[in-house]
Amino acid sequence: MAEQKFAENEVVELVTKIVTSIGTTRGDLIPILQKVTNELGYISQEAIQQISVLLKLPTKEITSVATFYRMLSTKPHGRHIVQFCESAPCHIAGGREVLSALKEALQLEPGETSADNKWTFYTTSCLGICGVGPVILIDTEIHGNVTPDQIPSILGRYE
Ligand code: FES
Repeated sequence: MAEQKFAENEVVELVTKIVTSIGTTRGDLIPILQKVTNELGYISQEAIQQISVLLKLPTKEITSVATFYRMLSTKPHGRHIVQFCESAPCHIAGGREVLSALKEALQLEPGETSADNKWTFYTTSCLGICGVGPVILIDTEIHGNVTPDQIPSILGRYE
């Protein structure tokens, strides 16, 4: 995820480029928002404003889509996104203890980003790999069969 700050004119330029490459219909909105999240790190107010102009959609509608999906964000994320599965199969496999250890190690509650901007932490529902629960997803990397004592070394692999 990008973390640098962009000037307003750079955001306008970037969003215009993204919209030009994807399209201007309502159906193009989610792919556009995904791409903006990837490029900017999050969907800023300037980005929403520019998408609104180009797609001729109210900013309120864009904001409501941007805040609905977990993969989109209107707030800056940390450099790494940690997602912990809290559905029943992972829970039964020892998830509760792993969640406590993870919160302790990150010093974060779900939905929070660390002060050094390294981590954003979420809990999530089933990731579809229940056979290797408890499961932690860090960015796009899956960690399965996690035990509480493995947490420091797993987190230690990330810059
Ligand atoms: S319940 Fe955790 S991956 Fe399915």
